[in-house]
Amino acid sequence: MMSFIPEDKILEIKNRADIVDVVSEFVQVKGVGRNFIGLCPFHSEKTPSFTVSSEKQIFYCFGCGTGGNVFSFLMKIEGLSFPEAVRRLARRYGVQIPTVSLSSEQKRRLNEREELFSINRTAMEFFHHTLLHDKAGRKALDYLRDRQISDQAIQDFRLGFAPEGWDNLARYFFQKRLSPSLVEKTGLIVPRKNSSGYYDRFRNRIMFPILNLNMQVIGFGGRVMDDGTPKYLNSPESPIYNKSRSLYGLHLARQPCRNTGTVYIVEGYFDLLRLHQFGVENSVATLGTALTEEHVRLLKGYAQRVILVFDSDAAGLRAARRSIDIFMKQEMEAQVLVLPSGHDPDSFLLQHGLEQFKESSEKALGIIPFLIESAVKDHGLSVEGKIRITNDIIQPIMAIRDSVARSLYIKMLSERIGVNESAIMEKARQVTAQSRGKTFGSLRETDRQTIFQPGGQKQPGEIRFERHIVAMMLQFPEMIQEVEERNLLNYFTDATLKTIGQMIITHQQKSVSEIIDLMEDKRLQSISAGLAMGEEVWNREGCIKLMDQFEKSRKRQEDDLLEKIKQAESSKDDVLLLKLLKQKQVEVTSR
Ligand code: GTP
Ligand code: MN
Repeated sequence: MMSFIPEDKILEIKNRADIVDVVSEFVQVKGVGRNFIGLCPFHSEKTPSFTVSSEKQIFYCFGCGTGGNVFSFLMKIEGLSFPEAVRRLARRYGVQIPTVSLSSEQKRRLNEREELFSINRTAMEFFHHTLLHDKAGRKALDYLRDRQISDQAIQDFRLGFAPEGWDNLARYFFQKRLSPSLVEKTGLIVPRKNSSGYYDRFRNRIMFPILNLNMQVIGFGGRVMDDGTPKYLNSPESPIYNKSRSLYGLHLARQPCRNTGTVYIVEGYFDLLRLHQFGVENSVATLGTALTEEHVRLLKGYAQRVILVFDSDAAGLRAARRSIDIFMKQEMEAQVLVLPSGHDPDSFLLQHGLEQFKESSEKALGIIPFLIESAVKDHGLSVEGKIRITNDIIQPIMAIRDSVARSLYIKMLSERIGVNESAIMEKARQVTAQSRGKTFGSLRETDRQTIFQPGGQKQPGEIRFERHIVAMMLQFPEMIQEVEERNLLNYFTDATLKTIGQMIITHQQKSVSEIIDLMEDKRLQSISAGLAMGEEVWNREGCIKLMDQFEKSRKRQEDDLLEKIKQAESSKDDVLLLKLLKQKQVEVTSR
């Protein structure tokens, strides 16, 4: 069923789509702790048990046990096939895939988008040509050369110049007989207020075309060449331009990001050009907007690690701090490179060169060390200061899933500010207890019951164990390898759980949501989503204990069985013996 749509398209769509967004169109959900909950659309209920995890990109109803990822949700609620659900999301998130048999309304919209792209491309070529070959572009070219932008970069980024005057572009489009009301939708021309006609939005500015991953021109940024305001003017949002989803330079950065596994994020157009010119091609720029979750989800498809390069001014630091939550939530490794005061990446590279830039990025702090350092800077190391620092840092530390990393950071904080580790741990426990009491209080209890017994059915002990182990593999993937090494799945009595466990082991690199796509059986999807959704607090020691107990219990059962067989033999109870031997056979073959 996947053959209609290329695998990488499905991944791209998945990277862009947000399950909370999609679900919100059908169900009113509100944030509770890490999750969103609402009334289940798949069965009738009065108290909400339908749960959506933005972090895991899955949903699960603790009432009826339906669950899955964004595709399964659309399939179920709209009665779509898998390819239909994929195409629906592709359209919604602007991912182009080969389309067949569209309705006329869909065709119209698709055509309009195509036309807007084409208008933008025409404008890009107009600006580019003006910059390089028109007398009017001379001063702009001088400006760029003065800022040491190379001819190659001008070509690579198709930089341009919007000439002075009110309607150069408007007239150009008029000559080409393009409908002004259509052109207006790109934001390139604006209707005059007091008379008829249109004027150009961008006048006397250096033009930066913004391209998407399909190399379509979605919008523009324009910079003045003097102290005029605004310094930068951007295209307004349009049917083809969504700021919170677009990153400048991603079309050129995608492959270098894949190659290096790392992406640099900077704030400005010139910063990006400069990095590119210095050969740091795995970089993108946010466009005067704060980094969004959508940006990060998009980037996750191409890189595992982000280096945020922000100006050292207060605004830059604030921006860095704000984006940290997003990285935590998305569980993407991020580092923060703070440049010396007064520098942005552009000026730093010009003054200090690539070598020093690389050196600084190697020293870039991880998120928590960065937070610690900036808290120290903010509060100082007085007694009061240390209390404030701990308060600032404890929550981000507790948000880390990896227990080893968590304890190392607690140690780091303890050493940096000279506060006893156990005092910090104590505080951490208070904070988690509080937040759990607030957010999960009632939900957690139902969690516990339903995860292990959906529908309230009683389950034998082994199956409870097995569910717990699969839940652990899904929620705390660092234990997967241990499960594999101990061969635990071989002791499983429940075939479904065993299948899910095997899929998790085979696809260790994939997220829950991705594994769900590989499951043809809806029941497997729901069970996996349910097991992944739990909010257990895992730690290594606890997991090892769980596995030990499971092994022991299986051994004990085996010993019991052998003992019973011996007794049946000696008491010559052949009927029982046969039954017991059969039971043993089942166990042996299931191994
Ligand atoms: P240069 O001064 O040309 O080096 O640009 P810069 O990138 O260093 O400028 P700055 O640090 O002031 O701004 C960073 C980014 O924020 C810019 O590249 C723009 O994307 C955005 N930005 C800056 N000024 C404005 C503005 O006046 N309006 C809008 N919409 N965005 C701006
Ligand atoms: Mn700058």
